[in-house]
Amino acid sequence: MVDIKSITEELNKSVFRRLSEVADSVGVPCYVVGGYVRDIILGRKSKDIDILVVGSGIDVASRYASTLGKGASLAVFRNFGTAQVKYRGLEVEFVGARKESYSHDSRKPVVEDGTLEDDLNRRDFTINDIAVCLNSDRFGEVSDPFGGISDIEKGIIRTPLDPDTTFSDDPLRMMRAVRFASQLQFEIEGKTLAAISRNASRLKIISGERIIDELNKIMASPRPSVGLRLMERTGLLQLVLPELTALKGVESIDGRGHKDNFLHTLAVLDKVAEKSNNLWLRWGALLHDIGKAVVKRYDKRTGWTFHNHNFVGAKMVSSLFRRLKLPMGDEMKYVRKMVDLHMRPIALVEDEVTDSAVRRLLFDAGKDIDDLMLLCEADITSKNREKVERFLGNFALVRKKLVDIEEKDRIREFQPPVSGEEIMRIFGLPPSKPVGLIKDAIKEAILDGIIPNSYPEAYGYMLRSAAELGLKPVEAAQTETPSDNK
Ligand code: CTP
Repeated sequence: MVDIKSITEELNKSVFRRLSEVADSVGVPCYVVGGYVRDIILGRKSKDIDILVVGSGIDVASRYASTLGKGASLAVFRNFGTAQVKYRGLEVEFVGARKESYSHDSRKPVVEDGTLEDDLNRRDFTINDIAVCLNSDRFGEVSDPFGGISDIEKGIIRTPLDPDTTFSDDPLRMMRAVRFASQLQFEIEGKTLAAISRNASRLKIISGERIIDELNKIMASPRPSVGLRLMERTGLLQLVLPELTALKGVESIDGRGHKDNFLHTLAVLDKVAEKSNNLWLRWGALLHDIGKAVVKRYDKRTGWTFHNHNFVGAKMVSSLFRRLKLPMGDEMKYVRKMVDLHMRPIALVEDEVTDSAVRRLLFDAGKDIDDLMLLCEADITSKNREKVERFLGNFALVRKKLVDIEEKDRIREFQPPVSGEEIMRIFGLPPSKPVGLIKDAIKEAILDGIIPNSYPEAYGYMLRSAAELGLKPVEAAQTETPSDNK
């Protein structure tokens, strides 16, 4: 029996004492299993508790819920033989020990009741395959048939059975292996890794929702490039995000090459991840150059070009989000904006940093300007130190100007100082083209610094723009020809 101090301390929690009493009273063996045990040993914050019952998980769950009284909610999933109890923010899942087998072309397993050993055999990785007994006569006894504790200590991800069997039972586990490697900074053991490469194409039978869940956990990990490189190496990335693998490699013509845009993308992503936990900014970094594979050209005079890759890349974002089952609302729009605008600050520092260019950047990026600046700074991955320093120096200048101009003109949350309704009322217009022209003229004048962003100045400018279109305010027209307004 292995005794791990962290486990013993954890089991002192009242929830485990209570579960132990319930297990004894129902008279069935009960264990804490899976990610919860792994996370205790790793000292990570654990979330849901998984309880394995050699018998009916539903019976134990019902008894447990009734001992908690009113505040507890019990959900029973008879089809799956599982149940869940929520109490004061804590979720405990109960499952009966099972033996599962899968046919080759289906995710639907044939399930039978099983022993503790059967259940541990059907799980994904040794690190998730440790069970701790809760019954009072064996309270705290650890079952670790595959050496999971030692693998946690060594930082190794390995399947308990032949990896071909484990991955064939549930191909999502290939993504999970990569996810754990990236999230926990563990290594995937050689045989397990080779089996992922061999079985990668089986990921096709897995639903998009389950895949994206794992991919997002990779994206949220400390260095997402670890997971993405593993996905690339095993062939998973080609299946999930072919737009990214299309960026791989360096082509050379007349002795002139370009950078490997896949490796560059990973470097940018890790730099962003060092500074920000915002998942969508990380997605922006991952996708910022996806247009490059599409627009890449070689020109004898200028060499390799990637004209409009930001624009083309931004157009690819919505279909990519739809395909991957990522959220199509504000999150997609934000990522599309990041991809679209990621060249703007750098283009700006290559020219003279004029106030009106900075104002326009503020207008287009709006409240996301700081995220955009972070992405642009991370985008400088050149090895040329002098160039990097020059760019970063210029970015510092842009940042300063952004602050100055925002203080003065408040462009970040730009609202037209004169609304379309007001223009219609003043000039007695129905919704029509001139209303838009006048509104635009005011906005452009503010962005160009011709007038400040204030109501009286905008009002005056509106009168002048309208006059150029031959329009007069209705009230003025009334004074001249009152009968016109009847
Ligand atoms: N499991 C498995 N195969 C899967 C998913 C899960 O064998 N495809 C097993 C593992 O033993 C896992 C347990 O079910 O530990 C619980 O699954 P889940 O809650 O999805 O994962 P965790 O390991 O708890 O990790 P996380 O909470 O980080 O998702």
